[in-house]
Amino acid sequence: MSVWTMSAFGNLSPQVLYTVAMKKSWKTKLIHGDSHAPEGFRSLVTPTYRGSTVLFPDAESVTDQWDQHRVGYTYGLYGTPTTLELAARVCELEDGEHTIITAGGQGAISLIQLSLLNAGDHILIPENIYGPNRKLAYSVLKRFGVEVTVYPPLIGAGIAELIKDNTRLVWCESPGSLTMEVQDVPAIAKAAHARGALVVLDNTWSSGIFFRAFDHGVDVEMQALTKYVAGHSDVLLGAITIRDRAIYEKLGNTYQVLGCAPSPDDCQLALRGMKTLGVRLAQIGSSALRVAQWLAARPEIETVLHPALPSCPGHEFWERDFTGSAGLFSIVFKSGPTKQQVQAFVNALELFEIGYSWGGVASLAVNYDLSHAKGRSEYGHRIVRLYIGLEEPEELIADLEQALGKI
Ligand SMILES: Cc1ncc(COP(=O)(O)O)c(C=O)c1O
Repeated sequence: MSVWTMSAFGNLSPQVLYTVAMKKSWKTKLIHGDSHAPEGFRSLVTPTYRGSTVLFPDAESVTDQWDQHRVGYTYGLYGTPTTLELAARVCELEDGEHTIITAGGQGAISLIQLSLLNAGDHILIPENIYGPNRKLAYSVLKRFGVEVTVYPPLIGAGIAELIKDNTRLVWCESPGSLTMEVQDVPAIAKAAHARGALVVLDNTWSSGIFFRAFDHGVDVEMQALTKYVAGHSDVLLGAITIRDRAIYEKLGNTYQVLGCAPSPDDCQLALRGMKTLGVRLAQIGSSALRVAQWLAARPEIETVLHPALPSCPGHEFWERDFTGSAGLFSIVFKSGPTKQQVQAFVNALELFEIGYSWGGVASLAVNYDLSHAKGRSEYGHRIVRLYIGLEEPEELIADLEQALGKI
């Protein structure tokens, strides 16, 4: 039932009542109404504050500064209370000092690189980096005069040999995309810091939870909130978390001029998703492990690239540094099936949908051909990435079993 009663005037100040007496036309009243809902509503839900224009109390207060924590609200582009509430929650979760929310995980990646690199600088990126991130390095960064070197993800302390005087960033992604190598991030951070380079980590796989980035020497942490935090495949958001104020200011100054603000509606959905992140991650993690272990025992499978299994490259670093595992892993077929047969396996799956992105409630499968991927070509067309959602794991196993029978 929705009821409006004039008794709500009881809440209005004498000044507003005076304005009512000004006899506005109906057209003006459409913009400057005098009757309002009663105040004092409290609920468990963060409201969706939308707004481009932010109202200032007087002419002297007008400013266009982006750091609204310091100067108060100035413009919707720099975050409404919904956006900043999400930033605060992510920041707490990741144990940072400052968090910036972006419109998508890739937006977080590009904001970091465009903020922290200048022409003439050098960045090191791992071979198994998220595809669009590699593309950013080779298409945009190189065009702006940034030197890019690709390194093997398991290089560890050996990264020291690749660091040059102009190396500003060492990018880590652990576990890496598709082939899931777990990196020795502390060893990389030690070598990078010895030469004055910053370490950035794409911590999306662990949702910022299972790997405490700042405890392991990372300077800038990002994750795609699109995945586990939002958790329902209906939102694109990213987060960058830092402890250092000077880095935060570089990011904030660039964010302001790039102008890529997230939608407060999406932030509200992410805040809602965050409340169930704990139970979802626990279920997804245990189901994924159960399915991965079943697959590891199948005669068709050469290896299962799941960080919590010893067969995964870098598993020892997962065991040392991580406190849990999530839902994304890959399988590699033994030599034999053609690319078409691997595709037939994916097509035969009934519960697993075919699609990019992950972290939602539905299980997904995507096959890849890495025949031309540097450092990973041995996997060829035999690799399939699986994401395990919230379905009953025994039914997912039955689905995989029937699909394996099709190749
Ligand atoms: C490891 C990793 N980082 C970043 C991203 C980018 O996130 P978004 O899809 O929100 O742009 C993805 C997306 O798949 C990802 O897998």
